[in-house]
Amino acid sequence: MNSNVLITGATGGIGYEFVKLFAAKNFHIIAVGRNQEELDKLYSEFGGNIDSEIVCMKADLSDKMQVYDLLNYIKGSGREIDVLVNNAASAVFGEFICSDIEEEIASINTNISAFTIITKAILKDMVRRGSGRVLNVASTAAFKPGPLMAVYYATKSYMLSFSIAVASEIKDSGVSITVLCPGPTKTKFLEKSSPVELVNIDYSKMADPAAVALAGYSSLVKGKQLEIPGLKNKFNAIVAKLMPTSLLTDLLYRRRKKSIN
Ligand SMILES: NC(=O)c1ccc[n+]([C@@H]2O[C@H](COP(=O)([O-])OP(=O)(O)OC[C@H]3O[C@@H](n4cnc5c(N)ncnc54)[C@H](OP(=O)(O)O)[C@@H]3O)[C@@H](O)[C@H]2O)c1
Repeated sequence: MNSNVLITGATGGIGYEFVKLFAAKNFHIIAVGRNQEELDKLYSEFGGNIDSEIVCMKADLSDKMQVYDLLNYIKGSGREIDVLVNNAASAVFGEFICSDIEEEIASINTNISAFTIITKAILKDMVRRGSGRVLNVASTAAFKPGPLMAVYYATKSYMLSFSIAVASEIKDSGVSITVLCPGPTKTKFLEKSSPVELVNIDYSKMADPAAVALAGYSSLVKGKQLEIPGLKNKFNAIVAKLMPTSLLTDLLYRRRKKSIN
């Protein structure tokens, strides 16, 4: 029988690359996103596979009821999730005192609340069975405060801290938790989080989402706790640990301000 993977944020970017990787390994995929058009495209691309199956679920994870509906659907389907990929996230770009609080709360609900609710439900079953793998897509943003994206960076810090803490609680259970911390990646993520006229986004230096997903997938398979893809990102993570936080944050703020029109 095929193994089952639940992938949130499967409708684009890194999440779509995860769908490709798991489909190639003949997984039964439950793909979650908000965008119905993209979900339909996913189904037409992967739905006809002979060796793997895909169920595309529309759910806005910023809405707690929809998170519980998703979990109830999974329970009702009788499928046990072997791999959970927590990839969905949103961000809001801008000075905190000017940015939209409703969008920020939606981001907190998706990146923290839904992530925590889904992880608890799926992890409980995995630990009971003594097997399973979880991949949490955080970011290099998890290692430092992020002026002009203060809420987003804080949600990614939560994700990293939470993942490492829970991983230590379940160390001997047969279940692993891997945190993937990509740096800037060529997806629509920044575009979606920023008013177009606000930021000059330079895609030329960004990582390929397929390479990022593959790095995460390989570390998941190995049960590695932390994956930071790319030498520059690894180096920056070390710098963030060593440099005084206020200095690092000021530098980041000034650099980011320059990228604004
Ligand atoms: N791109 C980067 O530079 C970068 C760097 C580090 C980490 N990351 C992380 O990588 C992950 C994937 O992002 P990406 O770069 O691939 O961007 P993306 O293409 O925008 O993908 C984000 C995914 O999350 C989904 N999502 C967002 N809010 C949602 C909600 N409320 N309910 C359900 N689904 C929701 C989106 O679905 P919709 O189709 O509905 O929008 C989309 O499928 C995120 O966790 C992000 O924080 C990205």
